[in-house]
Amino acid sequence: MKVMIIGATGLLGKALMHEWNGDQIVGLGSRDVDIRDASRVMEVVEASRPDWIVLAAAYTDVDGCESHRELAFAVNRDGAVNVAQSAVRSGAKLLFLSSDYVFDGQKKSPYETSDARNPQSVYGRSKAEAEVRLLETLPGCCIARTSWLFGTGGKCFPDTILKLAGSRPSLEVVDDQRGCPTYSVDLARAIIELCRKNATGIVHVNNSGDCSWFEFAREIVKDAGLKAEVRPVSSQQMARPAPRPAYSVLSASSLHRCGSEMPTWNNALQRYLKERNG
Ligand SMILES: NC(=O)c1ccc[n+]([C@@H]2O[C@H](COP(=O)([O-])OP(=O)(O)OC[C@H]3O[C@@H](n4cnc5c(N)ncnc54)[C@H](OP(=O)(O)O)[C@@H]3O)[C@@H](O)[C@H]2O)c1
Repeated sequence: MKVMIIGATGLLGKALMHEWNGDQIVGLGSRDVDIRDASRVMEVVEASRPDWIVLAAAYTDVDGCESHRELAFAVNRDGAVNVAQSAVRSGAKLLFLSSDYVFDGQKKSPYETSDARNPQSVYGRSKAEAEVRLLETLPGCCIARTSWLFGTGGKCFPDTILKLAGSRPSLEVVDDQRGCPTYSVDLARAIIELCRKNATGIVHVNNSGDCSWFEFAREIVKDAGLKAEVRPVSSQQMARPAPRPAYSVLSASSLHRCGSEMPTWNNALQRYLKERNG
């Protein structure tokens, strides 16, 4: 099978490039193809003729999206549509990465794939609109929604916490947002499985279990053997430009229906710390 990974230079992209063995892989970063350029997208896809395209490229700065709305929609929605149109034309299958931020966070139980989208941020809206447009353009595509991604291939929450905890006696972390931390390696492995199983439709792909950012930070500091004290604060005390859902736990039932399962986030964190320490 021939696979094109668009966004191969990102956090998830690097894990996909590392984990994907046994198939022919073409990995592209933004220097190879800017997904806002429809004719360039068509050109690279036509030249490679992949069986699968995994679209991991996005403008992922959630706060930056609030002040760069046009860029957010141009990359995350219109860029995704460009890729879907090239998939239609070349007969490729498409797996698109989406986000828990398509939900408003008002639920008190895990979000199912059938729950209504109601994004609260520009980033969330750009992803939600991309999902709708992709399902119209290529109804057989696979949309893998993930959340709270971490890994050694780029900037991420555990890396920030480890740096802060190593240089300060205490740190404050929000305790009123709940979600599912997801290790890029586990997400990459699940994506590979989904492609090999020819998955279609929306699937929630995240490590199992859930926590608040505060609980996640406390576990990171403990597992790393650091002494810093982690204190819980509210989102109001730590105001950021983009609103985040208070609760964006994604149910695993859609992934189970595909015959796959994810390790717990605590287990994933321990493997991440080992990988980070080389
Ligand atoms: N990070 C999270 O917590 C999280 C949570 C939920 C969902 N997701 C989704 O998961 C996917 C992977 O996220 P990530 O954290 O791995 O992203 P990332 O580390 O920020 O990497 C983004 C990737 O997109 C590429 N890119 C950006 N703008 C582009 C453009 N205009 N044309 C082509 N490529 C472009 C970048 O290329 P260069 O580096 O070469 O510029 C890079 O390879 C994204 O769809 C994201 O929305 C992420």
